[in-house]
Amino acid sequence: MKTKLGLFALAGLMALVATPSMAQFAKAQDAVKYRESVMTLMGSHFGRMAPVAKKEAPYDKDKIKENIGLLNILAALPWAAYGQGTQGGEARAEVWSDPDGFKQAQDKFQAELGKLTVAADAGDFDAFRVAFGEVGKSCKSCHDSYRKKK
Ligand code: HEC
Repeated sequence: MKTKLGLFALAGLMALVATPSMAQFAKAQDAVKYRESVMTLMGSHFGRMAPVAKKEAPYDKDKIKENIGLLNILAALPWAAYGQGTQGGEARAEVWSDPDGFKQAQDKFQAELGKLTVAADAGDFDAFRVAFGEVGKSCKSCHDSYRKKK
């Protein structure tokens, strides 16, 4: 009896740690919740650097680097939660009717984030500011086409 329970517990744990690429969301709503949660975290970790980019807060090289490290992890996560049948949330129908365009918007974002990472690693504040602006544009550009207006 005890071992059986242990196996069930293990299966439950494995379901919890399944990586996004093999995620099978039980319900469309689970996928929506997942990707919106990640977007919320991306918004937080991106937005908190804005005062630094605007020179309203001091540039702390290590803090910025750490934050961009987190952003890189988050940036890898949402896309697997836009599979077929997960229509809804604040995502427009174009996400599914124009998958190539949606993929291009992801690639553009990843490329700009890559440049931001290089600038932050180098501790180059001017390059950081420029790259920060470009990442912001890539977020906005995807939202303009694929996120519902409020
Ligand atoms: C390739 C497209 C794409 C990129 C790039 C992108 N987003 Fe989003 N974002 C979306 C879509 C689509 C939604 C609508 C949520 C959904 O899927 O239901 C969204 C929603 C959001 C939300 C609202 C979450 C909620 O609770 O509804 C925030 C905040 C957000 N994005 C922040 C960002 C930030 C910050 C960046 C850049 C650092 C970014 N996004 C980059 C597509 C994108």
